Amino acid sequence: MKIIIDTDPGQDDAVAILLALASPELNVLGITAVAGNVPLDLTARNARIVCELAGRKDVPVFAGCERPLTRDLVTAEHVHGKTGLDGVELRDPKMPLADGHAVDFIVDTLCREPPGSVTLCPLGPLTNIATALRRAPDITSRIARIVLMGGAYFEVGNITPAAEFNIYVDPEAAKAVFAAGIPLTVVPLDCTHKALTTRARNDAIRGLGNRVGDVVAAWTGFFERFDKEKYGSEGAPLHDPLVIAWLLRPDLFTGREINVEIEADSDLTRGMTVADWWGVTDREPNALFLGDVDADGFFAMLTERLARL
Ligand code: RIB
Ligand code: CA
Repeated sequence: MKIIIDTDPGQDDAVAILLALASPELNVLGITAVAGNVPLDLTARNARIVCELAGRKDVPVFAGCERPLTRDLVTAEHVHGKTGLDGVELRDPKMPLADGHAVDFIVDTLCREPPGSVTLCPLGPLTNIATALRRAPDITSRIARIVLMGGAYFEVGNITPAAEFNIYVDPEAAKAVFAAGIPLTVVPLDCTHKALTTRARNDAIRGLGNRVGDVVAAWTGFFERFDKEKYGSEGAPLHDPLVIAWLLRPDLFTGREINVEIEADSDLTRGMTVADWWGVTDREPNALFLGDVDADGFFAMLTERLARL
């Protein structure tokens, strides 16, 4: 399966990229960085650090949009640290950024590859994806599926009482993606909050005895402090790798084909994903909205795959 990962690393994005690069079922055509958890210069740096960590300098990394479509950028250093990959000292990458803008790479790749052969995997704000759809509407019919981490319904918000971070940062972009009529799988907080980095799971990753295991355990050790304090939970939700896990093992997940609309007008509920989980409207379903995951099955697969790097 050919995929493009659009990302704002972020420790959890980094683990998602490692999982994808460790999985022969997936052909990562490229990685496109977007501003989100930290500004673009850092997300573009961090994505290359992860490729080098995986021994995959062959994967092109492109820099994309440095701010949302219309709004000021909101970042999340309070969660991910100043670098976005706090938890372990990391050298600057040696591999250069690929030439060209991420949005042009997305458009050119979709125009070159056979229609319906490329899946987009956004792990951050949807600015690059929405910009690509605006720049080249013809790509809409050529995208096999968009599998994104974002939104929430039963879990409500994590950056505001109403909104999940990725959708909150660029609600206009999210509105465009959810309205595009492209096959869509949404991995919301409802799902990711059931995949917690417990001590046992962290220990299993640290116990791999390879550099990747040590770095991932250090990242999750740093990343989890915020959510553990906020939610009083035993670990932190490992959000973004669940996007890749769904591609590899959809049987680990359950969800519903429902209508999901994005609030972009109200300041109070900006970025809310209004998910019609109970089918109380006549709005057409536009997304497979995941509600549950076999967390043990996910972590077992993640750990086994990380051992391969
Ligand atoms: O709300 C969680 C999402 O926001 C994850 O993608 C995390 O990396 C941050 O981007
Ligand atoms: Ca992310």
